[in-house]
Amino acid sequence: MTEFFFFDADSHQATERLGVALAETLTAGNTVGLVGTLGSGKTKLVQSIAVARGIDPQRVVSPTYVILHEYPGPITIFHFDLYRVADEDEWDELGADEILEQGAITLIEWADRFRACMPANWLEIKIEVLSEEQRRFTFVPHGEQWPPLIDALRSKLTP
Ligand SMILES: Nc1ncnc2c1ncn2[C@@H]1O[C@H](COP(=O)(O)OP(=O)(O)OP(=O)(O)O)[C@@H](O)[C@H]1O
Ligand SMILES: [Mg+2]
Repeated sequence: MTEFFFFDADSHQATERLGVALAETLTAGNTVGLVGTLGSGKTKLVQSIAVARGIDPQRVVSPTYVILHEYPGPITIFHFDLYRVADEDEWDELGADEILEQGAITLIEWADRFRACMPANWLEIKIEVLSEEQRRFTFVPHGEQWPPLIDALRSKLTP
């Protein structure tokens, strides 16, 4: 089995550090899917990325009931939460394919529920709960765009 790069965060601050590294690495057109159980830290990571890109943290809440948030900036961030999205018809109604083509940065909670709808290139971040404060973030590239970006991320996060 291929060994994927992972980052262990043993505190909120470490998750925020990952958010900063991702914010520096992500560019227009990138799609990131977050995969992990309820309360694993998907929203916390989105918030850390958004804050590092200058967005007010108060604006970044779990969009479970909203499904889609948009954070304007030099590069717009779209934040999906697919937990309550039932099927591909609802995906289409959201205009999700059109959003993915907009050249924004798109961050998607519960991306594993809609794997077939993900674009050719996307970064999967799996989140495992190791203990109350510890999380393991594993980076799984989908498409050729991602391996070099994961290398860039790795060099920011490893001393
Ligand atoms: N190192 C850590 N990194 C991120 N979150 C942490 C960490 N340690 C503890 N937590 C806690 O884990 C929880 C993560 O909540 P968050 O809303 O981000 O999860 P989620 O995966 O988005 O959940 P949901 O599936 O309900 O949307 C928060 O209560 C947060 O305080
Ligand atoms: Mg969430």
